[in-house]
Amino acid sequence: MPKLETPVETLTQEDAAAELKRLADELAAHDRRYHGEDAPTVSDAEYDALKLRNAQIEALFPELIREDSPSRRVGSAPSTAFAQVQHSVPMLSLDNVFSDEDVADFVGSVRRFLSLAPDAGLVFTAEPKIDGLSMSLRYERRKLVTAATRGDGATGENVTANIRTIGEIPQQLPPDAPDIVEVRGEVYMRRDDFLDLQKRMAESGQTFANPRNSAAGSLRQKNTEVTKSRPLKFFAYAWGEASEPLGATQYEVVQRFRDWGFPVNDRMVRCVSLEEMLTQYRAIEADRAELPYDIDGVVYKVDSLALQERLGFRSRSPRWATAHKFPAEKATTVLTAIDIQVGRTGALTPVARLEPVTVGGVVVVNATLHNEDYIRGIGTTRPEGHDIRVGDTVIIQRAGDVIPQILDILPEKRPAGSVPYVFPAECPACGSHAVREEGEAVRRCTGGLICPAQAVERVRHFVSRNAFDIEGLGEKQIEFFFNNDKPALRISTPADIFTLRRRQEGLPATLEGSLEKLEKIEGFGAVSVKKLFDAIDARRQVAFSRFLFALGIRHIGETNAKRLARHFLSFDALKKAAEAAKIPEGKGDPGNAEWQEIVGVNGIGGIVAEALVDFFAEEHNREAVDALLKEVTPTDEEPIAAVSSPVAGKTVVFTGSLEKMSRDEAKAMAERLGAKVAGSVSKKTDLVVAGPGAGSKLKQATELGIEVISEDQWFERVGREA
Ligand code: IVH
Repeated sequence: MPKLETPVETLTQEDAAAELKRLADELAAHDRRYHGEDAPTVSDAEYDALKLRNAQIEALFPELIREDSPSRRVGSAPSTAFAQVQHSVPMLSLDNVFSDEDVADFVGSVRRFLSLAPDAGLVFTAEPKIDGLSMSLRYERRKLVTAATRGDGATGENVTANIRTIGEIPQQLPPDAPDIVEVRGEVYMRRDDFLDLQKRMAESGQTFANPRNSAAGSLRQKNTEVTKSRPLKFFAYAWGEASEPLGATQYEVVQRFRDWGFPVNDRMVRCVSLEEMLTQYRAIEADRAELPYDIDGVVYKVDSLALQERLGFRSRSPRWATAHKFPAEKATTVLTAIDIQVGRTGALTPVARLEPVTVGGVVVVNATLHNEDYIRGIGTTRPEGHDIRVGDTVIIQRAGDVIPQILDILPEKRPAGSVPYVFPAECPACGSHAVREEGEAVRRCTGGLICPAQAVERVRHFVSRNAFDIEGLGEKQIEFFFNNDKPALRISTPADIFTLRRRQEGLPATLEGSLEKLEKIEGFGAVSVKKLFDAIDARRQVAFSRFLFALGIRHIGETNAKRLARHFLSFDALKKAAEAAKIPEGKGDPGNAEWQEIVGVNGIGGIVAEALVDFFAEEHNREAVDALLKEVTPTDEEPIAAVSSPVAGKTVVFTGSLEKMSRDEAKAMAERLGAKVAGSVSKKTDLVVAGPGAGSKLKQATELGIEVISEDQWFERVGREA
């Protein structure tokens, strides 16, 4: 049994991380024994105590919540994993918006993207956002062949056998359905069915927290008989691959789904204006409690499929849809302390420690305070004073999976003698000066690589799954190697990881030497050392985008790293451009050609470009990268082979005013067709699309003998109607 006696509040970050890992392993083992082997070794009460402790630690240290956390596993996890299914069309998620203004912005951005005239009509559908789990049902020759969960959007779990037990999902489609069609929608459980099920399950002591968990847990059962006994339901609202067009509008396609026998939501309507959308939102919100199932907002979608196609996608979500979420739940409690955490990028983040309070069914013991202005009251609902102080009674809010926030304080409850909070000017981790750049809300530690909070984090980030993905270098090992006082065991920078083996093999066969031998150190051993070295060596070649992401440059997450990699194709080319780029000094300064090239990469704006250029401007960063490049080779990115498009692989420049599409749309379309879009004309340019008013770029193109075409000719060339 675990030691439950250490009070959660006194755990250090390190202890908390170790304990969360232990709890995850232990609870997973109990789950396996309970569900898979039917042979539990602990009582339900003991099991619940472990789960509760896990939840308490996670509430205090949300940054430590693990991928494999027991709190993330929904319901009873199956004892054997389901087979994986690659989605032929990715299953995306939706952006969330929370206010009427946000919805107006969404509508505005759609209109702008499409360059719609102010009086041009634009129809949206509005429908409830069902709180269940999304499902993709693949029909081939009108027979249900595969049902897959969303998973990470690219790969889901094959739950076909379980889905077949849901009576209201058709196994067979009528003759007018296409040969291949993937119908997508939400599997959910009605509230009344959920409550009944709770009663039924109460005796076994194993219940679910809410209808959504219940639906997910019921579906992910190894034994299909169990799933069959659970009252699961389905709404169809979207689709993936289809061998022929399904219709002209969102609304029409969903009606077709209904005709094919799928349940569809009867609250879906078409709206011709922002006002109608908001009216519909309020109507659905007003009826929320009466609806037999849980919903958490309203989804708006552009009705015309032709427009959906033009709008396309951002990295994770479509541009043509958004979810308007219902307001978050609120509660009041007392702020007991303000702690400062130092993030990977050196940002000092204040965290509020709270007296435990339940918000929307979850116990909350801490909340984010964002930054020092937020604590002082700037940017909150109390811009003039009412600084947040330790001891204050605060109103907190929690929305979905978002970290709880402090919204406001109750001034009348402020204890006598409380003092304003003073934000530290030194980094709590390394003592370095913490500074706030002009125009920045965040105060940052200047300690860079010498700051343990950042350096350990940098190494951790570097080896993480989506970066270098080096197995065997977990949290514990990094802590061990980091700034180890023995030279043959020290890892302080990423390059040190790759010299570790050499340093180890170079140790003299003396007593001193043997003291630094990794395999002699507790917790390692010859086998794991060999495995670790092999894992490290296996990454001496690594994809360019991973390499770039691993560097931990501000604003360069996975998506931006991929964007840059796809554009520059080799790390060397990116580095040269970043080193030569000149950041514009003010309005009217366009920067130089290298700068223009970087900001011209689709999705990369000035802020990202500046972070990139700043990074390479720092000498210690260049040193670290060069040292790393001696050990590791980033492999060149393959140019995207677009589907036999006439502009694939071509570098295109759009200039002048475009009349049938916005600049963003033009760029997105060209890139979809495999072209590279550049911001300025050079010898590398293959094609210039010039609208009225084109100036210097057109002139340059003519001088260089580059082909220039009009917007209409562009549409002809790519075989699309304007
Ligand atoms: S449309 C490409 N419509 O919300 C967009 N999603 O936050 C496809 N969801 O993963 C989604 N009700 O599980 C859509 N009426 C609805 C929905 C809905 C619930 C879920 C879905 C999706 C998530 C995104």
